[in-house]
Amino acid sequence: MAGSGTFAEIIGGDVFNYYSDGQWNKSSSGKFVPIINPTSRKIHFKVQACTQEEVNKAIESAKVAQKLWAKTPLWKRAELLHKAAAILKEHKAPIAECLVKEIAKPAKDAVTEVVRSGDLVSYCAEEGVRFLGEGKFLVSDSFPGNERTKYCLTSKIPLGVVLAIPPFNYPVNLAVSKIAPALISGNSIVLKPPTQGAVAALHMVHCFHLAGFPKGLISCVTGKGSEIGDFLTMHPDVSCISFTGGDTGIAISKKSAMIPLQMELGGKDACIVLEDADLDLVAANIVKGGFSYSGQRCTAVKVALVMKSVADTLVKKINDKVIKLTVGPPEDDCDITPVVTESSANFIEELVMDAKKKGATFCQEYKREGNLIWPLLMDNVRPDMRIAREEPFGPVLPVIRINSVEEGILHCNASNFGLQGCVFTKDINKAILVSDAMETGTVQINSAPARGPDHFPFQGLKESGIGSQGITNSINMMTKVKTTIINLPTPSYTMG
Ligand code: G3H
Repeated sequence: MAGSGTFAEIIGGDVFNYYSDGQWNKSSSGKFVPIINPTSRKIHFKVQACTQEEVNKAIESAKVAQKLWAKTPLWKRAELLHKAAAILKEHKAPIAECLVKEIAKPAKDAVTEVVRSGDLVSYCAEEGVRFLGEGKFLVSDSFPGNERTKYCLTSKIPLGVVLAIPPFNYPVNLAVSKIAPALISGNSIVLKPPTQGAVAALHMVHCFHLAGFPKGLISCVTGKGSEIGDFLTMHPDVSCISFTGGDTGIAISKKSAMIPLQMELGGKDACIVLEDADLDLVAANIVKGGFSYSGQRCTAVKVALVMKSVADTLVKKINDKVIKLTVGPPEDDCDITPVVTESSANFIEELVMDAKKKGATFCQEYKREGNLIWPLLMDNVRPDMRIAREEPFGPVLPVIRINSVEEGILHCNASNFGLQGCVFTKDINKAILVSDAMETGTVQINSAPARGPDHFPFQGLKESGIGSQGITNSINMMTKVKTTIINLPTPSYTMG
């Protein structure tokens, strides 16, 4: 059970403590932030509402700890990360239980998230040893006008304090995807978890605590964004921000100082289906891609753009699968579970009602109980409907029938987002042409969009983000290049 056994020290009374300076602390604010269970819609957990002063102290400790950590041999940093990964996997059950209660993630997917996170941490340790263990050597006489009198040694050095802000849908995995690259690179980390998912994140941080990282190196501060959000992101001692979430990221990028930013801000991932596509494969991918975790993934299929000639057949095949999806509580490992908050459910409903009013064909009756929305396939959607352009983050999927592949590409590129997209065809030449034409960070050929495997580059264009993620790219982004130049005597003084 959350907060019991190994994790007992992270809770005081009925409020989970925040983590700073190697200790689990109560906030002096005397206030807490409630975490509402999306299924019961009742308060399930409480976390400390940290003050700005407490956040400041966490950043100060992180700054001090980082100086020593940067001097800790790379192999030792890797060793500690491997240890944390093992502890994390050992504690997959209680952490997964938090994910079920806080964000209504289906039970099996919750366990997968924790295991995937352990694997990510280990891979990051290994990749860091290789990637950071190498530098570059340049000689001056390769540039016109120079003699061979300068040797340039290039290495990668840490940035300082990295601020990690993960989203509610992967509070563990998208936290470690920021924490592990930061730590292996010699940075310290301050984590601000999402409200829904904060307790899972605190449990995950406790695994790093148990692994024995130096005190102050890792902090996890909880609280209201309105109180500590800007304070964190505008803090002069934060040297890098890695954020995943909604359009708050745009505001952060405008307010932050001149520091490296890594941002992933959502998508309207399009699936373009050509006439020669394997329709069984398409249907399976659209249902998995569109409805897993109830569509609450930035990489979910969010609009299917289907050639008219195959649309009837494909919609039927998709619908045959949609009606088989199980709907209910995450504890029962249902496919479709309640969406994270009431306001999310209300937003999804707004988009659905707009489509209904404008004449979309509903393949099912729209049904909602509390935060639980039954899966809905909408056919004959037109570009003027909000659901065609906006990101519902819910279990509702619009199908737009297209007359040409160009029409599909045009719709995809009209979006302000540009995260991922996919194209289904048996013709690899067409697939490559479509991929080149789609303005997205990644195009999947014959598969639904997805971030993983976690060492693949992951990036969005336009309002979908800044920078590229994936283990190697994150390590690279969380370091700076440092050069040392050895100046030799001029050639007239050289021997021989
Ligand atoms: O929600 C955003 C995540 O980066 C998507 O990750 O493709 O593994 O579900 P995923």
